[in-house]
This record gives sequence, structure tokens and C-alpha cells, in this order.
Amino acid sequence: MHQLAESPIVRPEVLVNCAMSPDGKIATKERRQVRISSEEDRKRVKKLRSSCGAILVGVGTILADDPRLTIKGEGKERNPLRVVLDPRGRTPDEAMVLDDRARTLIVTLEATDKVWNGAETFRCGQDAIDLDELMGELARRGVERVMVEGGGETIWRFFKAGLVDRYFVYIGDRVFGGREAPSPVDGDGFRSEDAYRLRLVSCQRCGAGVLLSYEAERDG
Ligand SMILES: NC(=O)c1ccc[n+]([C@@H]2O[C@H](COP(=O)([O-])OP(=O)(O)OC[C@H]3O[C@@H](n4cnc5c(N)ncnc54)[C@H](OP(=O)(O)O)[C@@H]3O)[C@@H](O)[C@H]2O)c1
Repeated sequence: MHQLAESPIVRPEVLVNCAMSPDGKIATKERRQVRISSEEDRKRVKKLRSSCGAILVGVGTILADDPRLTIKGEGKERNPLRVVLDPRGRTPDEAMVLDDRARTLIVTLEATDKVWNGAETFRCGQDAIDLDELMGELARRGVERVMVEGGGETIWRFFKAGLVDRYFVYIGDRVFGGREAPSPVDGDGFRSEDAYRLRLVSCQRCGAGVLLSYEAERDG
């Protein structure tokens, strides 16, 4: 658990994990899911998911990929909580993330009144989802570690809020190209003087690709 900036509230540790092509894309120009990870890397991701109390994605990933966000072979009680950042309530009622294989929390803006069968809702923030408030809520629910799996807009919001503690990126062996293809961190981006500082912890070959592991470099 970590302290929220300028607040006595503790928050979960935030891990970001994604897979990208050697040219820095997390999907093709059609913005559709594509296999980047090797078999070895999928095993690593499964282990990492198992070590987390929650797995989080943005609604863009739900609409593009319709992921289930569960760990194969795990029952409802042992699967991490699935968290979807969906400010305006765009998650389709038939999305896989609403199945009964794990608990799901859909996070919307305060003014959004959509509800879903198969998910709890948590409303926070007026113009954007307040990630500090969400982290406090997850801590209150006993979540000690959150894995943010994408996509690029959501990962950007976590970097922008200064919440990323560890960053894992698997680099595969297929080039996708395309100026419209998403990257691990999209959004508005930082100016060079504000760039988020990371420290490389390890670099290891993993099947046909390589896994880079970083942790946030914080002052003091
Ligand atoms: N290779 C990988 O590891 C990997 C993993 C996951 C996804 N992907 C790829 O990533 C792409 C999707 O990425 P994406 O950037 O388009 O979508 P995304 O990050 O999944 O979702 C972005 C949307 O989530 C909402 N959102 C996130 N944080 C918010 C905040 N703090 N406050 C308010 N709203 C917030 C916004 O919804 P509204 O638009 O409704 O405002 C935003 O547009 C797909 O192509 C998918 O295949 C790749």
C-alpha cells in the first residue's frame, strides 16, 4: 500500500502492464487486439494478475477487445476484482466483463446514472474520473495492488496523476506501424521537463520478445 499524495489515505500499489510491438504500438491501426505476447509472457501475466486484488482497464479496451479479465482456471472468489473506467456508461450490457466469473466494478462520473446487471458501480469525479478517490475506494475494499492493463489513454491518466509505481512492458517481434495505432501511453503527453521518471529494474528475454521492468523514481 502507498500513501496518497498530501493525504493520510493509503492507496493500493499501482502496476502497469502492457505488450507492445518493437515500433511502440499496443494494437494495429484498426485499434484491435492483436497477439503480441509470447507463451512465456502470458504465463508471467497470469502470475502477475494473481498477485493483484484488482485488474483495471478503460472502456476503450472493453469496446475494442471485449476482454474477460479473469485468470483461467480460477473461480469467482479467487479472481481479482475487475475495474472498468467508463465515465459516460458506454460498457455494453453484453460485455464479457459482466459475466459471473469475477466481481466487476464500473467507475463512472457522478452525473452518469447507467447501471449494469452483473456489476457494481462507483461514481466519482465531475469532468473526469478522480483516480485518487478511486484508489481510496479500492483501498477501503482491501485491494493492496492494482494492475492497470490499458489502453493508452487510461495508462496516461495514471501516469498524469503520478500514481504509477511499477511499469512492465513486453516488446514482441512484429512491427505494426501506423500513426493512428495506440501506444502504451497516449493522452496529451508530458513536456520534456515533466517526463515521468522511471528506473530500469530488469531486462529479460521472454520467448521471442523481451520484458522490461521499471519502477517509479521518486524524490526522497
Ligand atoms: N497490448 C496491450 O497490452 C493492450 C492492452 C489493453 C488495450 N490495448 C489496446 O488499446 C486500445 C484501447 O486503448 P484506448 O486508449 O483507446 O482506450 P482505453 O484506455 O482502454 O479507454 C480510454 C477511455 O477510458 C475512459 N477513461 C480512462 N481513464 C479515465 C479517467 N481518469 N477519467 C475519465 N475517463 C477515463 C475514457 O472514456 P470516454 O471516452 O468514454 O470518455 C477514455 O476515452 C485498443 O486498441 C486495445 O486493443 C492493448
